[in-house]
Amino acid sequence: MLFNPVDQEVLEELARIVGKNNVCVDRERLLAFSRDETPPERYQHLPEVIVTPSKAAEVAQILRYASRRRIPVTPRGAGSGLSGGAIPCHGGIALSCERMNRILEIDEINMVAVVEPGVVTNELNREVEKRGLFFAGYPMSLETCFIGGNIAENAGGGRAVKYGVTGRYILGLELVTPTGDILNLGGKRVKDVSGYDLKSLVIGSEGTLGIITRAVVKLLPLPTAKVDLLVLFREVKEAIEMVPRIMTELRVIPTSVEFMDEVAFTVSCRYINENLPYGEAGAMLLVEMDGTDLERVELEAEEVGERMLEGGAIEVYVADNYTTQERIWSVRRSIAEALMVESPHQSLEDIVVPLSAIPELIVHLRRLSDTYNISIPCYGHAGDGNLHATLVKNPHMSMEEWYRVQDAALDDLYHVVKELGGALSGEHGIGLKRCSFFERICDPAELALMRRIKRVFDPAGIMNPGKIFCA
Ligand code: LAC
Ligand code: ZN
Repeated sequence: MLFNPVDQEVLEELARIVGKNNVCVDRERLLAFSRDETPPERYQHLPEVIVTPSKAAEVAQILRYASRRRIPVTPRGAGSGLSGGAIPCHGGIALSCERMNRILEIDEINMVAVVEPGVVTNELNREVEKRGLFFAGYPMSLETCFIGGNIAENAGGGRAVKYGVTGRYILGLELVTPTGDILNLGGKRVKDVSGYDLKSLVIGSEGTLGIITRAVVKLLPLPTAKVDLLVLFREVKEAIEMVPRIMTELRVIPTSVEFMDEVAFTVSCRYINENLPYGEAGAMLLVEMDGTDLERVELEAEEVGERMLEGGAIEVYVADNYTTQERIWSVRRSIAEALMVESPHQSLEDIVVPLSAIPELIVHLRRLSDTYNISIPCYGHAGDGNLHATLVKNPHMSMEEWYRVQDAALDDLYHVVKELGGALSGEHGIGLKRCSFFERICDPAELALMRRIKRVFDPAGIMNPGKIFCA
């Protein structure tokens, strides 16, 4: 794909649209926009300019102009993504959503919030909680990530076992298409089968079909009762085998069933200076139950705890107050960052398989670790089959060798995942990082259809090029 550079004329036009204070070519800031949470030495790429519009009409003008001039546009939320989705790999314009950061409305009758894309996810949580309401999305980066990014990636997170992923809570979207149309897809209505479901197509499209400038978010009544269980096992295998049994044998749907192996929880505890009583444990499950009836929630938690002990758990700790729960969850939420600091040369994976295949997947991870001579710490949302296996460079390898080994191990892993009925990414997206694998693994007819859809939305090919599909 051939793009045009951002020259003086382009800068002037952008300044005319958004005001010159919102057009930035400062080197430091360009550098900050050149990366997300993927290892920068492999994926980093500078944009030529950062543009910070404040409303849909400005976004529409920018995109229309960029389409006409063939300048790539990469949308950016908080930059907390893990697949390179916000990396401007073809240069051009980085379009930041940070100024579109208002909660426009909390509509208690329809139980929805209307938000702009730059609202920090946890800020939305806090605002709706004041009214006894609840947004069920719970990405681990919720303290920094933006709701717009959550929608663009269809973020999953720690509560998907019970509540599902972000897309389930998006009733409406305002979308600016790459050709500069402003569409209103869905709305405050719960039902809608009028024509194609374009809103759902846009959710999880990784910023390749347009820019989300507003969203109608479904809220739920705030669950007032919550119990967390921290369950210690000697072995990874024992912990993993318990995961499906919680649901199949006890017939309860927990809010979360998170898995952490020994490396994951020890590195994270050290990183945030926390002291969990993990003793001899080689693996942990963090199981959360929530609801509005405390007695019932406690009873279910007790049943789960007992079943875990019967299944070989060495200890079950109960956290029934906010402070202890928050301590445990912050260990869980900090794992990715802690592992990145500890082992910067890594590939954080996001594979997802049917729940029944999780034990087999773990066996394969061990095989991959032996075959490729790398360590693979693992943690994640075991309760929905979504694991964050993290391939870590062996210190004896050169960088060239590491990249070669990484690509071979990933190819092996993705084929295994496909065999098991799974997919490459459960929540982080294909992005820049996985597009070459995706092209090989996705069914050719399906991939061709996706490419055609992309062209219909974006005939000039300027909208986040190089993501999902290799450009
Ligand atoms: C997590 C991120 C890596 O679950 O998705 O911690
Ligand atoms: Zn995750």
